[in-house]
Amino acid sequence: MANATDHLWMHFTRMASYSAGEVPTIVRGEGAYVWDAQGRQYLDGLAGLFVVNAGHGRTELAEAAAKQAGELAYFPLWSYAHPKAIELAERIAALTPGDLNRIFFTTGGSEAVEAAWKLARAYFKRTGKPNKYKVISRYIAYHGTSMGALSITGLPGIKSDFEPLVPGAIKVPNTNFYRAPEHGDDPEAFGRWAADEIGRAIEREGPDTVAAVFLEPVQNSGGCFPPPPGYFDRVREICDAYDVLLVSDEVICSWGRLGEYFGAVRYGYQPDIITTAKGITSGYAPLGAMIASDRLMEPFLTETGMFAHGVTFGGHPVSCAVALANLEVFAREDLVGHVRANEAAFRATLEKLYDLPIVGDVRGDGYFYGIELVKDKTTRETFNEAESEGLLRGFLSTALFQAGLYCRADDRGDPVIQLAPPLIAEQQHFDEIEQILRTVLTQAWTKL
Ligand SMILES: Cc1ncc(COP(=O)(O)O)c(C=O)c1O
Repeated sequence: MANATDHLWMHFTRMASYSAGEVPTIVRGEGAYVWDAQGRQYLDGLAGLFVVNAGHGRTELAEAAAKQAGELAYFPLWSYAHPKAIELAERIAALTPGDLNRIFFTTGGSEAVEAAWKLARAYFKRTGKPNKYKVISRYIAYHGTSMGALSITGLPGIKSDFEPLVPGAIKVPNTNFYRAPEHGDDPEAFGRWAADEIGRAIEREGPDTVAAVFLEPVQNSGGCFPPPPGYFDRVREICDAYDVLLVSDEVICSWGRLGEYFGAVRYGYQPDIITTAKGITSGYAPLGAMIASDRLMEPFLTETGMFAHGVTFGGHPVSCAVALANLEVFAREDLVGHVRANEAAFRATLEKLYDLPIVGDVRGDGYFYGIELVKDKTTRETFNEAESEGLLRGFLSTALFQAGLYCRADDRGDPVIQLAPPLIAEQQHFDEIEQILRTVLTQAWTKL
């Protein structure tokens, strides 16, 4: 579509890069595939943006949206309720671990993260620890773009334009075992060290000032860093010792992505808050949620108590109806079980790429993988800025797409290719992903 750049301001996009060429315009989806305006087919290796977990083209989700819009298009959750929000909150509470029973709906992930930080602050103000306002998160982690969520985000490149940000957002090391600064030969010792870095940061800042730690079950940015063994057990101990809330940011890692409804369940830890969005509706309508424990809601249950926060479209009736229909699909087709049954095959298929000189590390869990590209496998030497520019932005993203695979070549940390296909994907899709990557990465190597 020739006029795509005339008025449309695309997100995180170098608009000038399209001045000569056409903007790829996706018009249709079915299962694990999408089609562009010229009719070309692509395997959706990223489920849109870690979103379309149930796959494209589910007319029953579209019908659920239409039915709800016809019945009640909109009503706020500000002192009123509507049936689909009530039902969905109950349904979610039944799926969450422990007493995470209180569902505060938003329209997306940044708002969920924003709400979680606000709740942490308000909770401590109401329980006699008013100086606890800081948050800890990890280097290179992405937690959203609104000012609070952006402050929690650990990617300097997307923050500097907007500084000064919200004060009190402290950063600690992530769990990149491939580039572990310590204990690179011992995942358990590394996990213990990385978790203890959180404890040390709390000590440095002053335990009376720290409200919450925000962690993804598997950190996305940087290319899928799963938690080393024992990491979350130790983090939980530290949070308990210092009375700091543990927020599991599962905007990507919930709704089956890791073979469980929630990533915290997969790794066996109990958060105080889960933030979620994306796959909750499989993208058929926008929705997010902050899910809090009963304990955190208690101070707001007094006669005049209130969490003074809200957004107009949080828990939109159409989105809630779609989420319920989406969860019906999940249950009927056991999508979560499907991921568990197939994740080893997905991993094994991607690991075939280790025979390419450019593939340094294949890491992830469930249907969520990062493939780190390196210049030298033995030394793990990475690419310099100019090479990254030429290779990732100049060549790989476009070449993969032209070869029929939509995924993401990302160098916000070290250069990685990120994969998160719809949860319906099976061996034929894994093979297609592997073959396209093999061809394009082989070409990329010759360009270095
Ligand atoms: C872990 C995490 N948190 C928060 C967000 C922000 O979500 P949204 O883009 O829906 O605001 C994202 C988005 O990718 C995310 O991956």
